[in-house]
Amino acid sequence: MPREDCYSVLLALFVLCIWLCSVAGLENGLARTPPLGWMAFERFRCVTDCVKFPRDCISESLFMRTADLLVSEGYSAVGYEYVIIDDCWMERRRNEITKELMPDRERFPRGLNFLSDYIHNKGLKFGLYHDIGEKTCMHLGPGANGYYAKDAETFANWNVDYVKLDGCFIKNINLDIAYPAFGRELNKTGRPMVYSCSWPYYQKHPNYKLIKKHCNLWRFADDIRDSFDSVSKTMFKYYKEQHNLTKHAGPGNWNDPDMLVLGNYRLGYEASRLQLAIWAILAAPLIMTNDLQTVRPEIKKLLQNRAIIGVDQDPLGIPGRCVYIAGSIQIWVRPVMPFNNMGVHSYAVAFVNIGNYEPCPLCPLTYEIVLERLGLQNNMGYRVIDLFVPIQDLGLFKPKDKFITRINPSGVTFFKFTPVDIY
Ligand code: GLA
Repeated sequence: MPREDCYSVLLALFVLCIWLCSVAGLENGLARTPPLGWMAFERFRCVTDCVKFPRDCISESLFMRTADLLVSEGYSAVGYEYVIIDDCWMERRRNEITKELMPDRERFPRGLNFLSDYIHNKGLKFGLYHDIGEKTCMHLGPGANGYYAKDAETFANWNVDYVKLDGCFIKNINLDIAYPAFGRELNKTGRPMVYSCSWPYYQKHPNYKLIKKHCNLWRFADDIRDSFDSVSKTMFKYYKEQHNLTKHAGPGNWNDPDMLVLGNYRLGYEASRLQLAIWAILAAPLIMTNDLQTVRPEIKKLLQNRAIIGVDQDPLGIPGRCVYIAGSIQIWVRPVMPFNNMGVHSYAVAFVNIGNYEPCPLCPLTYEIVLERLGLQNNMGYRVIDLFVPIQDLGLFKPKDKFITRINPSGVTFFKFTPVDIY
C-alpha cells in the first residue's frame, strides 16, 4: 500500500476510535456527587384528570409550581436542582409522520420546550421519564423500543438534563444490550444528560459492572412507598447486597434506592429522619417526591439540613454500609471528609432503632459502643457533632471511649466523627 494510503487508513482508524470512545461508555462527566431534586411519581402517581384534580394532575402547572417553590422555599439554595417528570406525560401515540414522542397536549399545552425553558430560567435542571420497552409502566405512552436514536434526539431537543429510563414491557428485549444502546444514543446527541437506569430492578442477577459502565444511577430496589415499612425494606435490600452495591458506586455512578418520601402522609417524623440519614449514608440521589407547598416546617427543616446533605454529597464518594445488626439496633457507617494530618478520614455514623424487637419493640433504646469497634482508631480521638443539630459540638471521644446514644423507635441518631490532628 502506498505510504499516503497507509496514513489515510491510520487516520480513519484513529477517527473511528475517537468516535467509538466518545459514544461507547458513559463518560458524560455528570453526577460527580449524587443528584438532588424532585420527582413527581410517588406523590402524584398518574393523575391525569386536571378538571377534577387540578393541583395533583401531571401537568405543566405542577412542574412550574414545583420549580417556583424549589427556589422560593430555599430548596435550590441547598442543592436540590432537578425537576423530573415521571410517567404519564405522553400522548398515547407517537406523531404519525415524524414518529416523535409527544407530551399530552391538554396537560402540557405549551410543549416541553416551554416547560424546559421555564425550569432552566429558574436556574434548575429538567428531567424526563421514558421506558426501554414497548410501553411506559403506567401503559399510557409508547416505550422507546425501536426508536432509541429518535427519542434520544427528541430529549436533547427538549433540553433534557436527566433521563429516567424505566424497564416495563420488555418481552424479548435483552436489557444488557438495550440500556447500553440507549445510552450510546444519548451520548451521540452531544447533550450531557444524567442517565438513570431502572435496569437492575428488572433483573434477577444484575451485572453491576456492566451497569456502572453505562449508567449514572441505577435503581436496585422496589418502588418506594410513603411508609416506614417501605423505607426499612429498601434498607434491608441494600444491606443484603451491600458488598456488591458499594463496589460499583462512586463519583459519576450511584445506587438509587428511589425517592425521598419525606413531607407526605404516612412517614412520621422519626422515620423521616431515618430515611434522610440512611440515604445520605448510601450516597443516594436525594430526589424528593412531595407537594412542596404543604411540607410541614419541621420536615422542610430536615430536607434542608446542610450538614446531612453534606454527608450525602461528600466528595470522597464512598458509599456507606451497615456494619452491625443486633435486635432492633443497626449501625450504618460512611467514610467522609475531612482527613486529619495523618490521612485518617472522618466517619458519618447512623444508629438505627428499627423498633421490631422484644422485650420492648416500640420503645426508645439506649445503646452504647466502644468506638474502636466501629473502626474509629485515631489515638488522639474524634470531635463529634450531632448531624441533626450540627451547631452542637458533643466533645472529644477517644477510640477506647464508650459512645452512648438513645434512639427513638423507627428512628435514628446521626453523628459525624472528625479525627483530630496527631502531633
Ligand atoms: C415504575 C418505576 C417507578 C415509576 C413508575 C411509573 O414502577 O419503578 O419509579 O417510574 O414505574 O409508572
